[in-house]
Amino acid sequence: MVNVAILGYGVVGSGVYKVINENNSHVSRRAGDTVRVKYVLDLREFPGDPAEDVLVHDFDVILNDEEVDVIVETMGGVEPAHTFEVKALKAGKSVCTSNKEVVAKWGFELLQLAKENNCNFFFEASVGGGIPVIRPLINSITADHIKSISGILNGTTNYILTKMADEGIAFEEVLKDAQNKGYAERNPEADIEGYDACRKIAILASLAYEKQVDYEDIYTEGITKITAIDFWYAGQLDASIKLLGLAKRQNGVVYAMVAPFIVKANNPLFGVNDVFNAILLDGDMLGEVMFYGKGAGSLPTASAVVSDVIEAAKNKGKNIPILWRPEKRELGSVDVFETSYLVRVSGLKAVERLREIFGDAESEIRYERNKEEIFKREIKHAFGAVEFIEGQHGGEVAFVTGPMSGADFEKAAEDFVIENRIRIAEV
Ligand code: HSE
Repeated sequence: MVNVAILGYGVVGSGVYKVINENNSHVSRRAGDTVRVKYVLDLREFPGDPAEDVLVHDFDVILNDEEVDVIVETMGGVEPAHTFEVKALKAGKSVCTSNKEVVAKWGFELLQLAKENNCNFFFEASVGGGIPVIRPLINSITADHIKSISGILNGTTNYILTKMADEGIAFEEVLKDAQNKGYAERNPEADIEGYDACRKIAILASLAYEKQVDYEDIYTEGITKITAIDFWYAGQLDASIKLLGLAKRQNGVVYAMVAPFIVKANNPLFGVNDVFNAILLDGDMLGEVMFYGKGAGSLPTASAVVSDVIEAAKNKGKNIPILWRPEKRELGSVDVFETSYLVRVSGLKAVERLREIFGDAESEIRYERNKEEIFKREIKHAFGAVEFIEGQHGGEVAFVTGPMSGADFEKAAEDFVIENRIRIAEV
């Protein structure tokens, strides 16, 4: 018998309970032993719920029960989740979790504790929900150096961006709609500001590049500044806009960032829409491989957690090593990272300043009449060879730059009134 305790009976925890019970004979066969949920820990009561009979409110009941082999942590948040995981591993109980905050911050320490106590720390569901990506990264793509990882790692923002692209609706309006439908949280900050994707790319980069990538070091930009006009220009490029988590080795340096990117139609990530997630890995021998599926939701995420439970059950009393070294990975700065940009310019700062000072009617008329030409000349002068995009919105000029470092971009952009600039994903 393999006894499981689920900490947190929310969306994912209740899904784990359901998967273990509904697919019990299948799960048990795969585990090589009967798997049962002995406890569910939650502060709340669940009258009439199937888990009511195994519900407890005190973690120590679980910790002190020697029969419990595997602890599923689906509480989310940092504390007490982290403390409970530490105590469980020290007691020799394997931990399986979907908690990306805890994995990103303490992944190495928890793996170490598991090793010291002959048990396991598994976290397949912490990235990409139900998509199996962690285990393939650890177990399958082991012969390769990973050149890059680019992922649509957050379902909420992908849903919002897809709606904006399809229906031309403003960000705020789509967000409200997503909240009303329960797709986005009442407090959507972690999703829309990119913090959730940031933790996920930190985990993938730590595993792919074998040293601790601190999520605090990852440049993170959310989607709140993306407008319908950006989508219009993206459409002119036969592209869309996606929030990507990116980790990449460029000139021997590892870079990681989360930001909205222009994704062209020939990029496999282009067709990843709505709440779906996808992770595109590029190995130096393998080439590109993409993992696609449901990045959130009760049963898809629970499916990944239960696959970890099965792995833990199969390896009772034996630690499965996972390479995640404690040394900190120093990331390259976005100032050095090279990429192309889509840029929208609405003015020249110098001209705006002169207008404020002189407000001279005649030069104003001449400026307005020749604005596009003046912009284009100055843009070429500052950014070098660029590709201008036909068609305009509100007197703007939009263009695509060649690959340039973040610092060179900022320098070239300093004389312009920039409406927005979005990086362009490499194919
Ligand atoms: N808030 C996350 C998302 C849930 O929207 O993808 C899964 O981590």
